[in-house]
Amino acid sequence: MWSNQDLSETKTMLEPSKKSDYWIVGIALIIFFTSGILIGRYGTSHDSQHVLDVKQLVIDQISTDQISSNLRYLTSTPHVAGTAQDLLQAEWMRDRFLEAGLDEAKTVPYDVLLSYPLPGVMNKVSLIDDHGRINYTTAGRQPPLGSPEEYSEDIMHNFNAFSASGVVEGNVVYVHYGRKKDYEFLLSRGINVSGHIALIRLGVIFRGSKVELAERYGAIGAILFSDRIEKTSQDRNFTYPDSWWMPGTGAEYGHVGRLRGGDLLTPYYPAIESAFRINEDNHPGLPKIPVLAIGYEEAEVILRHISPENPAPTKWGGKMDAPYNIGPNLRYPGWKVRLDVSIANERRTTFNTIGILKGSVEDDRYVLLGNHRDAWTFGALDPSSGTASMIEIARVFGNIKREQNWRPRRTIVFCSWGAHEYGLVGSYEWTQQHAKVLNQRAVAYLNVDTAVSGNRTLFGNAFPTLKHLLVDTAKLIPNPNVNEVKFGRKTVFDTWITQSRDREIVDQPSVGNLGGGSDFEGFSYVVGIPAVDFGYMTNGAYPTRYSLYDSYHLASNIVDRGFVHHQAVARMWAVMAITLSDSTVLPFDILAYASYLNQSLSLLQSRYGGVLLQNGVSLKHVRVSLDHFVFAVKNFNNNVLKNVDHSDIMAVRRINDKLMYLERFFIDPKGLPEHPETNHIVFSTSTSDSHTFSSFAGLVDLIVKVGNNTEVDDPDTWIKIRHHLSVVAFLIGEAGRSLNGDF
Ligand SMILES: *[C@@H]1O[C@H](CO)[C@@H](O)[C@H](O)[C@H]1NC(C)=O
Ligand SMILES: *[C@@H]1O[C@H](CO)[C@@H](O)[C@H](O)[C@H]1NC(C)=O
Ligand SMILES: *[C@@H]1O[C@H](CO)[C@@H](O)[C@H](O)[C@H]1NC(C)=O
Ligand SMILES: *[C@@H]1O[C@H](CO)[C@@H](O)[C@H](O)[C@H]1NC(C)=O
Ligand SMILES: *[C@@H]1O[C@H](CO)[C@@H](O)[C@H](O)[C@H]1NC(C)=O
Ligand SMILES: *[C@@H]1O[C@H](CO)[C@@H](O)[C@H](O)[C@H]1NC(C)=O
Ligand SMILES: [Zn+2]
Repeated sequence: MWSNQDLSETKTMLEPSKKSDYWIVGIALIIFFTSGILIGRYGTSHDSQHVLDVKQLVIDQISTDQISSNLRYLTSTPHVAGTAQDLLQAEWMRDRFLEAGLDEAKTVPYDVLLSYPLPGVMNKVSLIDDHGRINYTTAGRQPPLGSPEEYSEDIMHNFNAFSASGVVEGNVVYVHYGRKKDYEFLLSRGINVSGHIALIRLGVIFRGSKVELAERYGAIGAILFSDRIEKTSQDRNFTYPDSWWMPGTGAEYGHVGRLRGGDLLTPYYPAIESAFRINEDNHPGLPKIPVLAIGYEEAEVILRHISPENPAPTKWGGKMDAPYNIGPNLRYPGWKVRLDVSIANERRTTFNTIGILKGSVEDDRYVLLGNHRDAWTFGALDPSSGTASMIEIARVFGNIKREQNWRPRRTIVFCSWGAHEYGLVGSYEWTQQHAKVLNQRAVAYLNVDTAVSGNRTLFGNAFPTLKHLLVDTAKLIPNPNVNEVKFGRKTVFDTWITQSRDREIVDQPSVGNLGGGSDFEGFSYVVGIPAVDFGYMTNGAYPTRYSLYDSYHLASNIVDRGFVHHQAVARMWAVMAITLSDSTVLPFDILAYASYLNQSLSLLQSRYGGVLLQNGVSLKHVRVSLDHFVFAVKNFNNNVLKNVDHSDIMAVRRINDKLMYLERFFIDPKGLPEHPETNHIVFSTSTSDSHTFSSFAGLVDLIVKVGNNTEVDDPDTWIKIRHHLSVVAFLIGEAGRSLNGDF
């Protein structure tokens, strides 16, 4: 998984925090609860008992032992997409779903472009002395340290999927995080990375964006490393297997393609048998330079060999055991760095597993739970903590179905994705294949990329309509941390609120926006299905993520002894699924959407209003549409939702359809101007960093492209801005109209 916690530094675009007038939201929630949930509970005898009982049954029945044994199986071998283990685990999940008593379960294959190291050929970085002799070479693989499975023959040696193959030799430039502004800074100091190898620190922006920028600035290769500051503690030797900190030889796998929309060869469409496939040669999604991530101890050797003539600015430093110099020259005349990468891109089959529990009343409405299954090695935390939890939820739902003759009101779909690590391939292909059905019938998508990446607190990101659902559910879940309970913090919520507070809404923890990098992208940014993503964490990403050391030992002995945090996340996930599938009226907080848009627009106005005005572009129409939208939402909540007769099936369905489809109105079928693969005009990711969140991403990307500088004359981009703004105004207006009027 990628989580946007670790990207805070680049979340500079437009990220309105929560509302300025929290009391409105408070009132909305009260109205909401009275009309939605309470009526959902007590209004009709049909589902009142189910809603209450099933949640408690689920909380009682989710078992730590079951989760642990699921995880033991999932982490017994590496399970990289497209390998034999991908299929074995997909089938194993299907069998667990059937055993649980789901109505249907199947594996779903897609034939997609993946990428692998060549067996037996190490990818490496070497120092070459002035006589052409190799003075130093990186190990190319990570030594087994913790448990027997780390010796598996199936572990791939270090590589970064979709890297170009080749050998390059040259000087090295340390480019910090490798953002645009880092290269601009270097150029301002007269340092041009062109013709050299870029040494890039991981973090802040997606690694694929780093490679793309390195290539754009003329680098001939890219070496990636994580600074010790993110990977070790005070006691630098206290690393895995004794702690969760990363050993110096741990390198991070991870793809460096620049794909949006899953499989590179079948953009927009599913990679099924009949699919047309575009040519792989010169594919814009594939890097043209070789790339390799190495351990921080290995990177220190390279850093020590960079000439001190250009010291890096202090803020480019971290905790490496080496001076931070920029280069490009090496310390000794005539020395060079060599980067040697051998990788093959190959078409292979990856598998999703889909399990279905049919709804009793509205079997054509879907609440989807998703998690990816593939990992670069064992992926004990990312993603298997989620996979192990999902299987347990299916078991418990099946149990309750059998024992209590229960079914959810709406259909629940379990989705286990393949080839996520190659660019969300499994989930994108599936949403591309079923986009029409999902568009018509999907209520919400609940993603858990990594259930447990730490044990301090819950975190959550969500669409505005679902933020309150995360918060309210957390109040129902017992606190897994006994020390916290001793302090009187009985629920997951009680700890969460001590760790993060919403800036505007009192007594509410902060729920972020989704950003990018996980399997909700296809659902949310292409089809327009509201989503959440959540889990337990300590501080964003955990140190050994994407390395060999994300093992069962890490999960069971270091991060979550007793599996209680896994259990808490599984309970959250299951209870949210039941709330969404069993409530008579969908528990969507649409006023929160109105407030969010309002806040985003104010931010847009204050940040870019001036430059827009100078170029003759006004936000007036967006403002007018938004005012209508806000009015429509309030009217809907106060006059329609409140008065709906819960025994009138058609009336309930009409209301629910309006709620369900609201998100779809923000989908522009034409795609965003700068990246047509995504369609959501409010939530999407920006082009300069495909993992960074911004509101009105299509617009902001254009404005960033044209720059704030009014002297820059870019009439084409200004035309695109006006065009896109008109679409934004139009779609927001229609969204409001959909709630109350007809045409
Ligand atoms: C690498 O170079 C250093 C400095 O010239 C030298 O002291 C060392 O012996 C060399 N090591 C190898 C393995 O060649
Ligand atoms: C960097 O060097 C390359 C190759 O010499 C050159 O084409 C490019 O214009 C240079 N960039 C700048 C900003 O000087
Ligand atoms: C860490 O381990 C290395 C080698 O095992 C040793 O030389 C060094 O003193 C240790 N450092 C600390 C802080 O314990
Ligand atoms: C929580 O995680 C930390 C590592 O971040 C670990 O030291 C601690 O023992 C863990 N607690 C539990 C209950 O597993
Ligand atoms: C929208 O924002 C304006 C000020 O920017 C504020 O007066 C108004 O109450 C807000 N409306 C909602 C629904 O948040
Ligand atoms: C526009 O100006 C703001 C504030 O002056 C600055 O933070 C931002 O980086 C600028 N954006 C561009 C694209 O130049
Ligand atoms: Zn993941």
